[in-house]
Amino acid sequence: MADPQEVLAERVGAAVAAAFGASHAGADPLIRPSQFADFQANVALSLSKSLGMPPRQAADQIVAHLDVTGICDRVEVSGPGFINLTLASDWIAGQASGLLTDQRLGVALVDPGLKVVVDYSGPNVAKELHVGHLRATAVGDAVVRILEFLGQTVIRAAHLGDWGTPFGMLIEYTLEAGEEASHAALAAGDFTAFYQAARTRFDADEAFAERARRRVATLQAGDPESLRLWQVLVNASMEYLRMIYARLNITLTDADMDPESFYNPMLGDVCAELEDAGIAVISEGALCAFPPGFTGRDGKPLPLILRKSDGGYGYATTDTAAIRYRLLDLKATRLIYVVGSEQAQHLQMVFAVARQAGWLTDDASAEHAAIGLVTGTDGKRLKTRAGEQIKLITLIDEAVERAGRVIADRYDDPVQRDQIADAVGIGALKYGDLSVARESSYTFDFDRMLALTGNTGPYLQYATARIRSIFRKAGLDPAGAAGPVQITAETERALALTLLGFGRTVQQSAQSAEPHHLAGFLFDLASAFTAFYEACPVLQAGDPEVRESRLALCALVLRVLVTGLGLLGIPVPERM
Ligand code: ARG
Repeated sequence: MADPQEVLAERVGAAVAAAFGASHAGADPLIRPSQFADFQANVALSLSKSLGMPPRQAADQIVAHLDVTGICDRVEVSGPGFINLTLASDWIAGQASGLLTDQRLGVALVDPGLKVVVDYSGPNVAKELHVGHLRATAVGDAVVRILEFLGQTVIRAAHLGDWGTPFGMLIEYTLEAGEEASHAALAAGDFTAFYQAARTRFDADEAFAERARRRVATLQAGDPESLRLWQVLVNASMEYLRMIYARLNITLTDADMDPESFYNPMLGDVCAELEDAGIAVISEGALCAFPPGFTGRDGKPLPLILRKSDGGYGYATTDTAAIRYRLLDLKATRLIYVVGSEQAQHLQMVFAVARQAGWLTDDASAEHAAIGLVTGTDGKRLKTRAGEQIKLITLIDEAVERAGRVIADRYDDPVQRDQIADAVGIGALKYGDLSVARESSYTFDFDRMLALTGNTGPYLQYATARIRSIFRKAGLDPAGAAGPVQITAETERALALTLLGFGRTVQQSAQSAEPHHLAGFLFDLASAFTAFYEACPVLQAGDPEVRESRLALCALVLRVLVTGLGLLGIPVPERM
């Protein structure tokens, strides 16, 4: 157990039990980082009321029963009743040395039996992926990687929008434009132009519009020719998506696409089940659920529309069938929807209906991992100068091209240069999304994401490259660094202590589905490394034991950074 907070929580917990008896043994010791020591325990303040004792007195009694021999150097009660805990440097060194032989770098496995569905990316057939999709894709993929690292079973679900009324129009347009030409346009990602051309035809020509409407009906009735034409659109879009995912180092495969059409055969049954249970009722001709607690501006109950008055099913029906399938058929125990915050109400209503229906019980959870808005530096939605939506591939290309310029002067070999530019550009693009709390809005700014200093992808990548070059210079392999770690300077102590927090951070990111905690930790680690490296000579250290220790610290930082960046899906170039 390397995590200091966990060790201290256990010791303080035991002291509370010893001081106040079993009835208070379960109290959370409330171990927090402290300004005045390494950590503080705040449990005396929370217990004082139920103990009927001033917090300071409670703190004194806890300390009297506290056994932290070999762990802490100093224990002090301060302020109204905080217990300040300063770790012994030897203990920190010992724990850090332990990490050297720990494959998992202090990250414990968690509930390996948990089965989690992560719904993310949410692309649509024949529609451009936008920066919001990029953010949901980067965040969702990081969440997936983190959960899998913790040993959980993860089902990726990129809820592909491949069904619905626009497909009648798109199929009719495909017939007019020619199948091959349409396929080529979509596979190249020219969605906006294709969609707009179809839309223009639809709006301008009543006969076309009528054919489009009839096409939706035949498609939904399963007409083979309509399905074949629809498949052309889906296949072409999938080609584009595969290319994007590969370029972005996203783990989604064809098998993960979870298309809306997959749920088609279930929609009728789901509606019938909810109607029979009295959860859905006919309202103004449509079948609607009115989950409790959702009202519109007028105070009237809000409907989740399950079947429109024309008999058609929509987005809400599919999501209702999907949640049922995920809970009852896949038997998932945790559902994470990494989806834009503007869909909060929709998802909460789907969750509420699933609860009413008894599909979502206390044995499982459903959460909306909301993604905030992405804006340009002008605070408005990101657009091209012509006012069009920017193609994701254009942003990717630009990130890589700019990264090439940032590092161009360092590399002569064009192959190496391109590889590094690619890793740095993609890394910067994704890390920009991942380093910000996912729910807050995010300003898309190439200059900032590509900066070599600050909390950026390139800064972290550069830190790893710098450590690798230390080992290269010494002709050593970082894997061979055996330590042990010893602490001779304040920056060494701070660095080693930071390293011990990796496991806790990964758990926290998993629990809250918030990769930015991990990103922030990696940045803190790289900063602690920089401070250490400025103050402490490594290869030039006079004492051979100190040199070994510092090399071991470097090796650990490298491993944690590479592992952590890997969990975020950020590529790490060997050199930079
Ligand atoms: N395709 C949707 C969109 O572009 C996102 C899908 C999100 N997932 C879900 N289960 N509704 O907005």
